Amino acid sequence: MLVAMGGAVSPHLASGLKQELGLVRAVETGTYRGWSARRLARVFPRVVTIELSPQLHQTAMKTLRDLPNVECRLGRSVDHLSELAHERVPTLYWLDAHWSPLFEASAGEADQCPVLDELKAIGPGDAADCFLIDDARVFCASPRPPYDPEHWPTLAEIFDTIRELHPGHYLTVVSDIVIGVPAGAKHVVDEFSRHPVRHWPLAARLARYLLLGVLRRVQRWAGER
Ligand SMILES: C[S@@+](CC[C@H](N)C(=O)[O-])C[C@H]1O[C@@H](n2cnc3c(N)ncnc32)[C@H](O)[C@@H]1O
Repeated sequence: MLVAMGGAVSPHLASGLKQELGLVRAVETGTYRGWSARRLARVFPRVVTIELSPQLHQTAMKTLRDLPNVECRLGRSVDHLSELAHERVPTLYWLDAHWSPLFEASAGEADQCPVLDELKAIGPGDAADCFLIDDARVFCASPRPPYDPEHWPTLAEIFDTIRELHPGHYLTVVSDIVIGVPAGAKHVVDEFSRHPVRHWPLAARLARYLLLGVLRRVQRWAGER
C-alpha cells in the first residue's frame, strides 16, 4: 500500500506552545495547498511558508491572499531557513517538506525528505524554538517504493540532530509528529498527547468515529469466518 505523507498541523498544540514560550511566528516547510499555513495564521501574528513547486506556490498565494499575516516563499526550504532563523525570534517550525506522489504536483522527488538539512540550516536559533516534524511513522520504519528509503532519516538521527543543536530540548513522538520543544514546555506536549483527538475539528472526529466503526465490523466479520 502506498502511504500518503502529510497531515495538517494541530492549532491546539501550536497555540499551547506559543502561550507557554512566547513564540512570535511560525515557519512551515512544504506549503502544498496552504492548509497548515491557514491554521497557523489563526494562532501566530506572522507565518512564513516555503514551497519548492512554482505551481503549488502560485496556487497557495491565491488561496491564502485573504491572510495578510502569511508570507509565501518559493524555493528550497534549506535556502530560506538559514536566512529566517534568528537567535532572538522564538519560532514554531512545522517541517513538512516531504515529497509524496499522492500529493498532486508535489516537488522534491530528488531529495524526498530534507529534514536533517533543514534542522542544520536553522541551527541553534532561539532557545525557545519548537520543532514539529510531520510523518513520524516513516522515520520509525523506512518507507516502501516509490519512496527511496535512502532519503529518509531514522528517528534516532532526527533526535540526535535536534539534541546537538538544542541540548535541553524534550523530544518525543505524538500522533505521527516528531516533537522537539524546550524542556519547560513538556507539560504542553503531555496535555496534547493525552487528548490528541479531542482537538480535531468536529467533522474529522465524526469521520474517525465512523471509520473505526466500519473497521470494527470488518474485523468481527473476518474473525467469524
Ligand atoms: C506533504 S506536503 C505539505 C503539506 C502542508 N505542509 C500541510 O500541512 O498542509 C509536502 C510539500 O512539500 C513540498 N516540498 C518538497 N520538497 C521541498 C523542499 N525542499 N522545499 C520546500 N518545499 C518542498 C512539496 O512540493 C509539497 O507541496
